[in-house]
Amino acid sequence: MRAVVCRSYGPPEDLVVDDDVADPTPGPGQLVVRVHAAAVNFPDVLLIAGKYQIKIPVPFTPGSELAGEVLDVGEGVSFVPGQRVSGTTFVGAFAEQALIHATAVTEIPEGADYASAAAFGVTYRTAYHALRSVAGVAPGDWVVVLGAAGGVGLAAVDLAVAMKARVLAAASSPEKLELCRQRGAEATIDYDREDLKSRIRELTGDAAKVVLDPVGGSYAEPALRGLARGGTFVTLGYAAGAIPSIPLNLVLLKGITVRGMEIRTFAEDRPEDSERDMRELTQLFADGVVRPYIGARFPLAEAAAALRFVADRKAIGKVVIDVTG
Ligand SMILES: NC(=O)c1ccc[n+]([C@@H]2O[C@H](COP(=O)([O-])OP(=O)(O)OC[C@H]3O[C@@H](n4cnc5c(N)ncnc54)[C@H](OP(=O)(O)O)[C@@H]3O)[C@@H](O)[C@H]2O)c1
Repeated sequence: MRAVVCRSYGPPEDLVVDDDVADPTPGPGQLVVRVHAAAVNFPDVLLIAGKYQIKIPVPFTPGSELAGEVLDVGEGVSFVPGQRVSGTTFVGAFAEQALIHATAVTEIPEGADYASAAAFGVTYRTAYHALRSVAGVAPGDWVVVLGAAGGVGLAAVDLAVAMKARVLAAASSPEKLELCRQRGAEATIDYDREDLKSRIRELTGDAAKVVLDPVGGSYAEPALRGLARGGTFVTLGYAAGAIPSIPLNLVLLKGITVRGMEIRTFAEDRPEDSERDMRELTQLFADGVVRPYIGARFPLAEAAAALRFVADRKAIGKVVIDVTG
């Protein structure tokens, strides 16, 4: 089969497309999916560079979310060949066939296409755990989302709107902010041109309850300073490259709660909350209440360009790789 292969850690341009990779065989509890669409996540860029929290030994095929049809199943798997499924895996999605644990797979609801199903996995889960189980967002709460037109960011906008929260979207360009407004954000801040802290306070009437931050860098501290007393700051990632250091006195003075959330450890540490969130999220997707915004699509042969697009801050919403017809 054809697969994208990372042979040595480096930039996307070092990836190769190999037409002669062995087809996978499912073991017990596993299945093989004929991949129709895979979606790009920022961590894919970090993984191929060898800069993620966990290092995958080379060679490996990157890609962590996919949708397609079941090709073959291992012992004890109840899915059947031909069934339309989507799933998340750590690596392996940027290929014509992917091996995946049955527990990480769900059936695609009627009316949803492969690209939407692939793009729904990681970012919506990240955003929903953060909003629902970590920040405990309630209807009417002001939620500030940084990097709001990115994968995790736009998922957070969509879900916070679905939860009837009031969304303040912060991003770096008018085009990105316009999309956030179209998706239901009530207010927006161009954080490369406006003062993030004072605009958060002005626009929310000093009532920002939650900040969701998948960006870090120089944006985290002013966003935290914009929170109202007793607010919650959720750190989700560092797409800007730098891990911010926050003066603790800011936390003390306003009684702020700072929390982190990472989907792998969340599922391990809080399995019941994780399962409940997944059930609710699956229902929201099946009912068509939320659908990921796909801003760009690339063929499998151009997977490197897709990863470069994300690494260069060009992506709006999700970037999808069309693998087979
Ligand atoms: N906690 C978890 O479990 C979890 C799960 C998935 C992802 N993540 C993390 O969340 C972060 C976002 O992931 P994603 O898939 O949503 O990425 P994405 O689609 O590329 O979005 C990241 C956003 O960060 C902003 N940004 C600011 N400076 C940037 C820079 N120098 N390079 C790239 N982007 C920059 C961009 O928005 P503006 O241009 O508007 O600033 C961009 O839209 C990543 O750090 C990822 O590792 C965490």
